[in-house]
Amino acid sequence: MIVTTGGRYNEHSLQKAKDIAIRYKLDFVMRKKRSVKELRERYNDDVLVVGRDGISITPLTGNDSVKYHPNFSMVRAKRLLKNEHDALVEAAELTAGMSFLDCTMGLGADSVIASLTVGNSGRVTALEDSLILYLLTKEGLSSYDTNIGVISDAMKNVEVLHEDHETYLKTLADNSFDIVYFDPMFEEKISNSESLRAISAVTQSKTLSETAINEAKRVAAKKVVLKDHFRSRRFEQFGFIQQIRKTSKVHYGVINTETEVDS
Ligand SMILES: C[S@@+](CC[C@H](N)C(=O)[O-])C[C@H]1O[C@@H](n2cnc3c(N)ncnc32)[C@H](O)[C@@H]1O
Repeated sequence: MIVTTGGRYNEHSLQKAKDIAIRYKLDFVMRKKRSVKELRERYNDDVLVVGRDGISITPLTGNDSVKYHPNFSMVRAKRLLKNEHDALVEAAELTAGMSFLDCTMGLGADSVIASLTVGNSGRVTALEDSLILYLLTKEGLSSYDTNIGVISDAMKNVEVLHEDHETYLKTLADNSFDIVYFDPMFEEKISNSESLRAISAVTQSKTLSETAINEAKRVAAKKVVLKDHFRSRRFEQFGFIQQIRKTSKVHYGVINTETEVDS
């Protein structure tokens, strides 16, 4: 992956692009009035553009570029602030002070909702295996200004790690997060979201493994939660109780891991 600036840049965005290249050990390339497509062809690599108004990626394969934007999470976050319900929060029975491990961060929408719900007394860690997506979302979450303080804070409070979830889960102690969450790419031939369709070339497409689910059950003090297409066989395959939502193609499944205490 190479890093460059937007077509028009200022000292600040130039420095930011150079900083990102240094931090992630990537090659920085001066834009020199070339189009992103030209740069992609010249360097035969994914291109990360640090513009004056945000960060975008143009993968080597495919024709789309994706800019970090909190998109759907903003709508959901505003609803939460009005005390309206959110399907993830309900499925996970997420409340202030809890800890939440997002094993499939993507563009971070679910992590932001979890972070807003658990608040400053809770913690959210998000894992992403694709370097280009990790970078886009990590930088986006840390610098995007939503103009709504609590939402911007929730974005900044997410701890973002470039990790494969199966490997990372194995390093964690038993019961070290209240909730362990998976939102894998759908197996059905439909896309999870418009933005993810655009960057499907760079999303990690490993199938969700039984080892990962078993590790998640050990790590989750309260629940393992799976979001998937309503027809997914993974709910049954891994023993999730599928919560039926008649109005949505996306369902949540839950495995309770809390040990019952006899009274
Ligand atoms: C459907 S997307 C998640 C969308 C996310 N919930 C959101 O709100 O934006 C699935 C993501 O999981 C990532 N992924 C797949 N397998 C992974 C693994 N083993 N470890 C970490 N991330 C993984 C993919 O690269 C992709 O970005």
